[in-house]
Amino acid sequence: MNQVLSQSVRDAITRELQKYPAEQQQSAVMAALRFVQEENNWISREAMDAIAEVLGLQPIQVYEVATFYSMYRLQPGGKHQINVCTNVSCMLCGSSEVISHLQDRLGIETGQTTADGRFSLNEVECLGACGGAPMLQLDRDYHENLTPETLDALLEGLD
Ligand code: FES
Repeated sequence: MNQVLSQSVRDAITRELQKYPAEQQQSAVMAALRFVQEENNWISREAMDAIAEVLGLQPIQVYEVATFYSMYRLQPGGKHQINVCTNVSCMLCGSSEVISHLQDRLGIETGQTTADGRFSLNEVECLGACGGAPMLQLDRDYHENLTPETLDALLEGLD
């Protein structure tokens, strides 16, 4: 029995597999990673190995998906993940100011987590919402057309 994944995660992966043809287990990798992250707040190497085992894949087939997308957290971090897009459209529309404002407010640099464990601040590549630049992803939600005022309101509305 796989001890790394909880029963609820394994049940969710089993349900996910039913959406795809047999022999297409790799199609469930993204969902499996999400299930683990939702439960643990991040995805360990051991969890990726366990997903590979459950899906009958080589571990590398899970690692390559997990490391490609910035939405997967591969290290423990803050309760809230702030991912600021710094790609071209967002850069031209002020992502540097967004980063600076958040660094000042949170007292951390990008790639760091606040001492109280509430926030991690990250720079990420294009999140596909260029029309709303500058933008960020806060946990699972996108926030666009950011200003110092909307950033402050965003932070103050969090637990
Ligand atoms: S450049 Fe920021 S969302 Fe595309």
